[in-house]
Formats: sequence, structure tokens, C-alpha cells
Amino acid sequence: MRKILITGSSSGIGKIAAEKLKVSGYQVFQTGRKKLDIENYISVDLSDPKNVNKLYNHVKKNFGDIDILINNAGECVYSPIDEMKLDETVRIFNSNFISHYYLTSLVVPYMKKNKFGRIVNIASISGVVGEASASLYSATKSAYFGFSKSLGLELAEYNITVNSISPGWVETPLTNAALSEEEKMVTLDVIPQRRFIEPVEIANLIKYLISDEAKGITGQNINLCAGLTCGC
Ligand SMILES: NC(=O)c1ccc[n+]([C@@H]2O[C@H](COP(=O)([O-])OP(=O)(O)OC[C@H]3O[C@@H](n4cnc5c(N)ncnc54)[C@H](OP(=O)(O)O)[C@@H]3O)[C@@H](O)[C@H]2O)c1
Repeated sequence: MRKILITGSSSGIGKIAAEKLKVSGYQVFQTGRKKLDIENYISVDLSDPKNVNKLYNHVKKNFGDIDILINNAGECVYSPIDEMKLDETVRIFNSNFISHYYLTSLVVPYMKKNKFGRIVNIASISGVVGEASASLYSATKSAYFGFSKSLGLELAEYNITVNSISPGWVETPLTNAALSEEEKMVTLDVIPQRRFIEPVEIANLIKYLISDEAKGITGQNINLCAGLTCGC
């Protein structure tokens, strides 16, 4: 049975993906910052990349080697650039990208040895198109596009694929925190399908990208955004 590690799976997209993949026959290890009393879960703050060592060692000891890594944990921040403090900038970049880069470097040796691996990065359409007052968040997410392409090339000969999914607005706690009810109505007006993506739609795409059917897809980014990146 393939083993999956999903960061940021205490809520939202990651939580729904974990549930979907468990019922699909995978063994899943989950992480978050919240303390939850569930099997195969650890509370770890990824804003400090050094905590990745604690996460990796715990998972290896208690769960085993990882076949499939879903780099999902992340925070959204809206702020004009001249109001961002350096500490907060570093904290967000660490959480959204650097800790995941380091975690990937720790799980790849086993995947290479095993000649199988799947790495899926949850990016954002904010990294695909520009978003005013989201330059930091956008930069942390577009980092995954170069990462997926370059690492996809590096690992291609080992039957390891590396891809990104860029969701548009998804109905999760992150969206509820970012948008007031009024802003949600305005946002819906500019989404071509006039709806938010459901977390299970992202989970379904993850399930496909980690399957054997998707073994030829690597280095790609897929926008799952209800038409938001198509133009107007
Ligand atoms: N919702 C959207 O519209 C949308 C759109 C595009 C991309 N995304 C991306 O999708 C991913 C999941 O977002 P979501 O909407 O499901 O949000 P969510 O419900 O807020 O879940 C975020 C998850 O990440 C964890 N997390 C956040 N910061 C962390 C940190 N510093 N260290 C460890 N864990 C941390 C949270 O843990 P705790 O809750 O336990 O603190 C939670 O499990 C994020 O990377 C987000 O950028 C979301």
C-alpha cells in the first residue's frame, strides 16, 4: 500500500484530500499546527524549516518511508509591499515554500532507490496571474513552477513525477478568513463559472496525478480555477 504525506491536512484542501485518499486505499500521514488526536498526525510549525527534521524523523520512525508527498500547507497574506515586515516575509516564505523544498529533499532519496515517487505541490493561480497586494503570496506560489519543472527533469529517470496544482478560489477556512461575505459576492462575479471550487475537486486531481495513469505527466502546472485564468 503506497504511503502519502500531506502537509497542512488539519483543515481545508489537505484534510479533504487525506480523507479521499484514505478511502481510495492509500496510507496517509497528516500534519498541521493544531493539536489533533487522530492516527498518523503530527503538529508541526513549518514557518521554521528546522522543524522539518522533527517532522521527517517522526514520520520515518512511526509511519515509514514516503512514496507520495503532497506539499500543501500554506498561508495567504494580503499586504501592500511597503507594509510588509521582514520577519513576516521570511515566515510566510518558509511556510509556503522553503520548508517544503527541504522536506522534498529528505523524501527523494527513498523514492529514487524505490524507482517510484509522486510529488504534488499546491500552488495558486495567484502565482500564475498577478494579484494586487499579494506579491509575497504570489511569489511563494510561483516558486513551485520552476521547482516542478527543474525537479521533474532531475527525477524523470527514476519514475518520479513532480507537478503543481494551482487552485482558484476554493471554499475553505483560508478563503473564509481572506474574504468577507460581501467580498465573496464580488469575487463570484468575476469567476467565469460563478462558483468557488470545492476542496474535493482538488483532491480528485491529486488522486489522478499520483496514479499510474498519470505517470507521463511531470513538470507541469494545472490550473483548477473555474475559468479564472482564461481571460475575460
Ligand atoms: N483556499 C483557496 O482558495 C486556495 C487557493 C489557492 C491555493 N490555496 C492553497 O492551498 C493550500 C491549502 O489551503 P486551504 O485553503 O486548505 O487553507 P486552510 O484550510 O487554512 O488550511 C491550511 C493548512 O495549512 C496548515 N498551515 C498553514 N500554515 C502553516 C505553518 N506555518 N506550519 C504548518 N502548517 C501550516 C494549516 O494548519 P493549522 O490549520 O493546523 O494551523 C492547515 O492545515 C495552501 O497552500 C493555500 O495557499 C488555497
